Amino acid sequence: MSFSSRHFRDCLGQFATGVAIVTSRDTDGKKVGITINSFSSVSLEPPLVLFSVARSAATHDVFTGDVQHFCINVLRNSQKELAERFAAPIADRWEDTRFTDNGHGMPVLTGNISTFSCVRHAVHDGGDHSIIVGQVNAVEMGETGDPLLYYGGAYAQLARA
Ligand SMILES: Cc1cc2nc3c(=O)[nH]c(=O)nc-3n(C[C@H](O)[C@H](O)[C@H](O)COP(=O)(O)O)c2cc1C
Repeated sequence: MSFSSRHFRDCLGQFATGVAIVTSRDTDGKKVGITINSFSSVSLEPPLVLFSVARSAATHDVFTGDVQHFCINVLRNSQKELAERFAAPIADRWEDTRFTDNGHGMPVLTGNISTFSCVRHAVHDGGDHSIIVGQVNAVEMGETGDPLLYYGGAYAQLARA
């Protein structure tokens, strides 16, 4: 490898993304959630999306285990604190977090710019991550507004031309 891990990450950081929180429940029904920016659309027919989760993440075994449903909560710019909270090692990320349950009992955060309710379609090897492909069974778009962005290792705002 002719480049350092730091340089690789810095170069990846030049790809501006949105920010989402993937939510689900473990086999005991306990809510889980993790901030991600690896969300991507995959297929229109059938409707498929993906995200990747680090093998080292505490939630990894939930997203690859017995519970098949999850939600992708795409964040609006006013939800930066939620993004920080669901990326931080704090005891209860859900304390004071507003949510409703979708038709499959999965938590949907309140105030999202859009939401994708998914059932797991496939899990692929992604090196030190697992790639989770979800089939979308419901979509919802919130009120209009701007998305939260991530660029160069920091949150960013959309500047309309
Ligand atoms: C903007 C942003 C994007 C992130 N994207 C991902 C991602 O795509 N996949 C991932 O596994 N972790 C990602 N993380 C890191 C996780 O949010 C973080 O490691 C979290 O603490 C993992 O929680 P867990 O250990 O409870 O599963 C991201 C963090 C931030 C701030």
